[in-house]
Amino acid sequence: MKLLVTGGAGFIGSNFVLYMLKKHPDYQIVNVDALTYAGNLENLKSIENNPNHVFVKADIRDAAKMDELMGQGIDVVVNFAAESHVDRSIMEPDVFVKTNVLGTQVLLDAAQKHNISKFVQVSTDEVYGTLGDTGLFSETTPLAPNSPYSASKAGGDLLVRAYHETFGLPVNITRCSNNYGPYQFPEKLIPLMISKALADEQLPIYGDGLNIRDWLYVEDHCSAIDLVIHKGRNGEVYNIGGNNERTNLHIVKTILEQLDKSESLMTYVQDRPGHDRRYGIDPTKTMTELGWKPAHSFETGIQETIRWYLDNKEWWTRIQSGAYQDYYAKQYGTRLGDRA
Ligand code: NAD
Ligand code: DAU
Repeated sequence: MKLLVTGGAGFIGSNFVLYMLKKHPDYQIVNVDALTYAGNLENLKSIENNPNHVFVKADIRDAAKMDELMGQGIDVVVNFAAESHVDRSIMEPDVFVKTNVLGTQVLLDAAQKHNISKFVQVSTDEVYGTLGDTGLFSETTPLAPNSPYSASKAGGDLLVRAYHETFGLPVNITRCSNNYGPYQFPEKLIPLMISKALADEQLPIYGDGLNIRDWLYVEDHCSAIDLVIHKGRNGEVYNIGGNNERTNLHIVKTILEQLDKSESLMTYVQDRPGHDRRYGIDPTKTMTELGWKPAHSFETGIQETIRWYLDNKEWWTRIQSGAYQDYYAKQYGTRLGDRA
């Protein structure tokens, strides 16, 4: 099988590429990523010499390039490429619409033209908006996005749905809850708090810290997408989550405790505008229909994640210093142009 994975140098995309090459060593992966601030080829160092992995630096909005790549015998497209950070979307909505909506449409056109046998849109639970104290998001929960990020992801999802209904494109949409684990960019809650705690810096908690997220170890998200590729019924949405709802305060206190740091580092700051109060995913359909089950509890997953950030300090300090962006130029530079 030949996959085109977009955004495969980001957090979840790189974990997915590593997961798939281990699980299916005979699969071929074309990994397309624009290497924005969030893309980091250092995530893929361990497969640099794997002949079944080809990295292409390209933007998903580049229609000619997407057409060329999908014309090379691609069977399956998995679209991770996105602007993914809610706080950045509040500062700069424009690029979110361009990548998450228009970029998705460019990919759909190319997939349609080349008769791709499966298009998987990696979406998010944030498209459903926010929950009160009870209830969970199911696949039939109406879309009610509250941030420019989630609105742009919902826009992408609606186009994916429309290409299925109108053109018969074989699609699936996955909507997962908050991921954590290795290679997460240190502007997101868990790696940010780990890195700040290790540096004895203040840990910024938005609002009252009682917002709830439903956490899933990234490898469990990857295993669910693998099942969607192979067993997902065309046109269906699959929710992915591990029933691990935690307040932000609980997350921060767990990190401080495991790192033996003082809770006096916790600092309450102004809330995020439009801050969703609670997310909670009902994964019953994905579990019963596809046979998916998460392999990590939150307690083991967070321990493994903290251990990974302790063991890979160089990875995140190079991000903080900006040095990771030199890596591509040094490693591939003039040798290979835009194709590595
Ligand atoms: P990320 O920001 O770490 O990675 C995004 C990747 O996309 C980066 O490598 C970036 O360079 C690339 N990219 C951005 N714009 C591009 C463009 N125009 N063309 C090509 N590549 C481009 O994000 P992530 O956390 O790994 O999320 C991946 C996907 O999963 C996103 O679609 C996101 O909406 C979704 N998702 C994320 C989470 C989460 O908790 N992180 C949960 C559910 C769904
Ligand atoms: O639910 C899935 C979504 O999870 C994905 O679609 C997004 O791409 C991903 O970024 C994530 O969005 P969140 O906004 O939930 O993640 P973030 O790590 O930015 O924030 C998690 C919670 O922590 C949220 O309630 C805001 C809070 N927070 C975050 C930061 C960065 C803080 O209190 N302080 C902070 O400094």
